[in-house]
Amino acid sequence: MFEGIGVHQWLCCGAIYLLAARVALSSETRRPCPQSCRCNAALQELNCSNGQLTTVPDNLPQNTKLLNLTHNKIRTLVQQQFQRLPQLLDLDLSDNIMSIIEVEAFLGLESLITLRLARNHLKIIPVGVFSGLPKLKLLDISSNEILVFLDFTFRDLTSLQFIKAADNDLVFISHQAFTGLISLQELRLDGCNLTAVPTEALTQLSGLRSLYFHQLGIGTLQNYSFRRLERLKELVITRWRWLETLSGNSLFGLNLTSLTIKHCNLKAVPYIPLHHLVYLVYLDLSFNPITDIDGNLFGDLLRLQELHLVGGSLARIEIGAFKGLAHFKLLNVSRNLLTTLEVGAFHSVNTLKTLGLDNNPLTCDCRLLWVVPRRLYLDFGGNPPTCTTSVQSQERYFLDFTESELPGLLTCRHPRILNRKPREVKVDQGHTVVVYCIAEGDPLPSLTWISPQLKPLSPFGRIRALSNGSLEVRYAQAQDSGAYLCVASNAAGNDSLPISLHVRAFPSSAKKHFRLKGWFSFPSASPGVNENQSVPFDVKTLLIAATIGFLSFFSSVSVCFIFMFFWSKSKGQLKHTATIAYVPRRTAPSNGGKGNYMETSRFTMKLI
Ligand SMILES: *[C@@H]1O[C@H](CO)[C@@H](O)[C@H](O)[C@H]1NC(C)=O
Ligand SMILES: *[C@@H]1O[C@H](CO)[C@@H](O)[C@H](O)[C@H]1NC(C)=O
Ligand SMILES: *[C@@H]1O[C@H](CO)[C@@H](O)[C@H](O)[C@H]1NC(C)=O
Ligand SMILES: *[C@@H]1O[C@H](CO)[C@@H](O)[C@H](O)[C@H]1NC(C)=O
Ligand SMILES: *[C@@H]1O[C@H](CO)[C@@H](O)[C@H](O)[C@H]1NC(C)=O
Ligand SMILES: *[C@@H]1O[C@H](CO)[C@@H](O)[C@H](O)[C@H]1NC(C)=O
Ligand SMILES: *[C@@H]1O[C@H](CO)[C@@H](O)[C@H](O)[C@H]1NC(C)=O
Repeated sequence: MFEGIGVHQWLCCGAIYLLAARVALSSETRRPCPQSCRCNAALQELNCSNGQLTTVPDNLPQNTKLLNLTHNKIRTLVQQQFQRLPQLLDLDLSDNIMSIIEVEAFLGLESLITLRLARNHLKIIPVGVFSGLPKLKLLDISSNEILVFLDFTFRDLTSLQFIKAADNDLVFISHQAFTGLISLQELRLDGCNLTAVPTEALTQLSGLRSLYFHQLGIGTLQNYSFRRLERLKELVITRWRWLETLSGNSLFGLNLTSLTIKHCNLKAVPYIPLHHLVYLVYLDLSFNPITDIDGNLFGDLLRLQELHLVGGSLARIEIGAFKGLAHFKLLNVSRNLLTTLEVGAFHSVNTLKTLGLDNNPLTCDCRLLWVVPRRLYLDFGGNPPTCTTSVQSQERYFLDFTESELPGLLTCRHPRILNRKPREVKVDQGHTVVVYCIAEGDPLPSLTWISPQLKPLSPFGRIRALSNGSLEVRYAQAQDSGAYLCVASNAAGNDSLPISLHVRAFPSSAKKHFRLKGWFSFPSASPGVNENQSVPFDVKTLLIAATIGFLSFFSSVSVCFIFMFFWSKSKGQLKHTATIAYVPRRTAPSNGGKGNYMETSRFTMKLI
């Protein structure tokens, strides 16, 4: 019993205590919890979400720290709407139907840190709306219908660090719009209708660290688009469907550590705009129709650790592609058109930790052998590469290969040049010759030709290496003679075949062209023709001669006509017409006899 009474007393005391506390609390705030709100006195939180409110309730408890007014029907905020909430830290007005916020609506919220106005119907934010919010750090005005940011809209928000403005209809940002935002760190301009980067407005944001642009209709990034953003570390550009090029100096002045240009229309890696970004660590160029990563062009990006190029049109990563990148850790080239990835692409493959190579039409041969011993510690993101070509390894994950299988898989065959004859090729001067070079090997070797001067021959010029591997020498000259080398090389090595070309000069008696002796002789620029020799008649000479002939003929005829004109003028009575009769030539009787007619034709010529 004694214990029972004790419990009773304790309970009674507790109730009295709680009552006292509640009285104390309500006497302190002097205001009850408003209808359609739920109050949590301990947390000083007012949750008025989903309360069917059309205006902000009056007489809110003065010590409120968190005020949730989301999912109501509030249409306007009047001047000094929240005047007596000096302790309020967090105000959420998202998901209402607000279209008007009067100037100084938030005046007096001197402690406010977070203000959310997302998903309302704001079209314009008058200058002065955000007055009196000296501590505000986060402002969310995303998913409204804002068209412009006027000059000085955010003037007083000196502590603002994050501004979310995604999904508005922004068409213009005035040059001074961001003035005063000295603490701003992050700006998101997603899904807006800007037609150019608001370069001038951005110059006000000297403290900005992250900048996100999403879905703009811009086709080129102009030179000097981002001026005076020295602190910017992260730039994210996504879904600019028309973006095909970055001007050479478009990223000039930036010192980024992270750059994303994703879901755009870049056809090549923008090496030149990037090359000064020596502190870049993270580069994402995914979902662009990029076809190649060239050799030796990333070298300036000394600190680059990650390259993401997922879902592109990559068909080739050249040897030396990542040369100079000593800290390279992650390469994600999933979902491309790569047939291989050679270890020579990397500066040092030992730094690589993560490799995304899945969903590529990989040919599994010795070029991918380097992956095998590393397959146990490389992170494939759950999708190891698979082979699509070789029969025994088709559609098998690299991880599935057993140690005993390995020697037989992923092999290459050394290149071998097949047509080893003839080693000597003779050609007459002025003629064209094609020298074959056919090689086999696995993978199919590439063929190059080395000139007698030990230079690789290009696919252009009089002497050139054809794309099918043949060597072509057109209009052979004596000095083309010499030893040419065909080199076939693949990942397994190289094979070569020397060919000696001998160009036979014309014997001196050869008379292919007719010559013009003693008339005039041109100094000749074409090699192999002696200047003392008489020059062969060419088309140009004939043309000049013909022109001279015609000119003299025409001048004689015109002199004749002029003479006739004056003569006819002086003799007034002369008949001004002359009739000329002519007889067409008889066709030969052997031609069927039909042409055996004679007819006299006439025509009349009028003299002026
Ligand atoms: C506020 O109230 C709404 C609706 O009653 C509820 O969904 C939400 O979780 C509440 N928020 C907090 C922070 O308690
Ligand atoms: C902004 O772009 C969207 C989609 O292209 C379009 O529907 C909307 O009308 C545009 N708004 C303005 C103000 O141009
Ligand atoms: C951008 O700058 C580069 C490098 O100075 C220059 O070659 C190019 O013409 C410029 N482009 C435009 C559109 O001004
Ligand atoms: C560029 O950024 C890096 C770190 O991100 C910093 O160490 C370096 O000093 C910056 N360089 C300049 C010129 O601001
Ligand atoms: C590569 O990127 C894709 C798409 O972002 C992702 O799903 C995959 O996990 C990544 N792979 C690796 C190895 O990180
Ligand atoms: C390579 O092309 C040239 C010109 O098109 C041709 O003459 C030659 O026969 C071809 N070589 C081979 C090996 O098919
Ligand atoms: C061919 O291979 C040898 C070594 O096997 C190498 O020294 C040589 O440079 C290679 N030649 C070419 C043209 O790749």
